[in-house]
Amino acid sequence: MNFLELAQTRRSLRTYLDKSVEREKLEYVLEAARLAPSWKNMQCWRFVVVEDAAEKAALADSMGETNPGRKALTSAPVIIVLCAVPKESEVWEGKDFMMLDAGLAMEHLLLAATEQGLGTCWQGLFTEQKVREALNVPDDVRVLAMTPLGYAAEERRPRPRKTMAEIVFQGKWDQGLV
Ligand SMILES: Cc1cc2nc3c(=O)[nH]c(=O)nc-3n(C[C@H](O)[C@H](O)[C@H](O)COP(=O)(O)O)c2cc1C
Repeated sequence: MNFLELAQTRRSLRTYLDKSVEREKLEYVLEAARLAPSWKNMQCWRFVVVEDAAEKAALADSMGETNPGRKALTSAPVIIVLCAVPKESEVWEGKDFMMLDAGLAMEHLLLAATEQGLGTCWQGLFTEQKVREALNVPDDVRVLAMTPLGYAAEERRPRPRKTMAEIVFQGKWDQGLV
């Protein structure tokens, strides 16, 4: 699979088989995350791997009842929670590099999981304090996202994306690519 095929194959998957994730695959996706680029190579990211049923239930409980990702958190064998240490990054002209750094690491993880035949789903809508309490995350660390990790029980067609003409300009803003 080349990179574009990998990017096209990755989908947000929300139902999972009752099948555990091999240790090597778990370590593979975490290694992919570890290798991401970051502001001044500060590597502000941290990951909490959750496999305990009670902890998974607490994570699901941190999400709203209507969040479509909620059911994924109890059906998947593993949840990976993305945290970040603000003092290991910087805000520059209002741009929060911590969010970019952590997002890059998470995207590495999601794509590596896809390559390994595993499903994921970025989850952003949850009550951070509930996750903090469930996983003993310190007050000076942010909980940014989480993803289920496992063998998906569903296949999904790619969601539509904006066209190149809508998002890519040449030379100056709003000039079409020639
Ligand atoms: C920052 C961010 C937050 C997201 N939060 C949620 C979420 O709380 N629940 C959920 O089910 N999906 C969530 N998603 C998944 C998006 O809905 C999904 O990526 C988007 O619809 C495109 O679909 P695809 O990932 O299958 O290509 C989130 C994605 C991102 C990048």
